[in-house]
Amino acid sequence: MKAYLTRRYLFSASHRLHNPELSDADNRATYGKCNNPHGHGHNYALEVTVAGQVNPRTGMICDLAELDTFVHREIIDRFGHEHLNALPQFASAVPTTENLSAELFCILNAFPHARLEKIRLEETMLNSFEYAGRAELKN
Ligand code: NI
Repeated sequence: MKAYLTRRYLFSASHRLHNPELSDADNRATYGKCNNPHGHGHNYALEVTVAGQVNPRTGMICDLAELDTFVHREIIDRFGHEHLNALPQFASAVPTTENLSAELFCILNAFPHARLEKIRLEETMLNSFEYAGRAELKN
């Protein structure tokens, strides 16, 4: 029996949407207020969906505590309360929530106890992004 498990995690981080390959005017035209030089913060909600066979002995896909430990160590501790632009992952990629989703997916894909199905990242009450691919960020 295959099932899906989705777990929700909260973290806060700041970013500035700015592409150094564009002129200042083009950056303002592309990103609007999100290009403000001082950046701005978000309270992100990350939903991680894993899939797998339900273990007949435990009745579970995987141990939630193991997923929590992994997500806290690999995501919350590394991205929480950081300025995303300053992280090496975004040295050459604009830290939009699309790119952040792809980055988080690639990291979470290493979870060893269940197959990562997709992630969903809420940036605001009105915006969320889903990612289920295997593509890496350009570096
Ligand atoms: Ni933003």
